[in-house]
Amino acid sequence: MPPFSLALVLLLYLVSPTSSCIEQEKSSLLQLLTVLSWNGGLTASWRHDTDCCTWEGITCNQDRKVTDVSLASRGLEGPISPFLGNLTGLLRLNLSRNSLSGGLPLELISSSSILVLDVSFNRLTGGLGELPSSTPVRPLQAMKSLVVLNASSNRFTGQIPTTPCFSAPSFAVLELSFNQLSGNIPPGLSNCSALKLLGAGYNNLSGTLPDELF
Ligand SMILES: *[C@@H]1O[C@H](CO)[C@@H](O)[C@H](O)[C@H]1NC(C)=O
Ligand SMILES: *[C@@H]1O[C@H](CO)[C@@H](O)[C@H](O)[C@H]1NC(C)=O
Ligand SMILES: *[C@@H]1O[C@H](CO)[C@@H](O)[C@H](O)[C@H]1NC(C)=O
Ligand SMILES: *[C@@H]1O[C@H](CO)[C@@H](O)[C@H](O)[C@H]1NC(C)=O
Ligand SMILES: *[C@@H]1O[C@H](CO)[C@@H](O)[C@H](O)[C@H]1NC(C)=O
Repeated sequence: MPPFSLALVLLLYLVSPTSSCIEQEKSSLLQLLTVLSWNGGLTASWRHDTDCCTWEGITCNQDRKVTDVSLASRGLEGPISPFLGNLTGLLRLNLSRNSLSGGLPLELISSSSILVLDVSFNRLTGGLGELPSSTPVRPLQAMKSLVVLNASSNRFTGQIPTTPCFSAPSFAVLELSFNQLSGNIPPGLSNCSALKLLGAGYNNLSGTLPDELF
């Protein structure tokens, strides 16, 4: 290789943005830890002076944006931080089988990047999407990329969100079993043309199965 090319390659290597994760994403992830009452010992790996793309449970893409947060079965306790909503490249969030409590933060269920959201087997409470009409964003409806939502085995109350696929054309799996949801199965779900699995057993649902679903 001529010396000039070598220098160029070296220069490209030095200026390439692949060195570390995005500072703002790192602090959003660290916020996740600060609100937990037990963080499952993640502090050993999630250190401020290291690249967050190398942290346990974190995967980044080539642009060093966080795409996956996989923290299932970590013994995590406490609420889910709204700061997760700041990870604008997040595709998959798996927080299943922990002891997380509180509600699903609005910031999270307004994410337009998330494909797969698994919060099953926790102690989450509150509603899954019906909010006062005064709320500027309609949660779930804002999740344009959502494909899988697994919220089973929690303590969610209220009704099954009426139009979770209003704007998510690929929405395929809605798993809500083992909660405390009430009301009927909304006929609007039939508009989810990609829906192939609806799990709603072990709730307090009533009414008939809407014809439209079939
Ligand atoms: C990150 O999220 C928090 C909580 O939603 C919000 O208050 C804050 O403004 C966000 N920060 C940035 C830089 O987007
Ligand atoms: C989340 O992680 C758990 C444990 O690894 C796994 O069993 C589950 O399939 C994952 N969820 C999704 C939607 O991939
Ligand atoms: C949640 O549901 C998804 C889709 O059915 C499934 O892939 C995943 O394994 C489930 N999560 C757990 C922890 O079982
Ligand atoms: C499906 O969506 C269309 C258009 O938004 C609406 O007019 C229709 O009432 C919906 N169907 C059901 C069963 O809610
Ligand atoms: C179940 O729903 C009925 C109304 O359909 C309500 O009267 C009852 O209190 C609910 N039970 C629980 C345990 O939420």
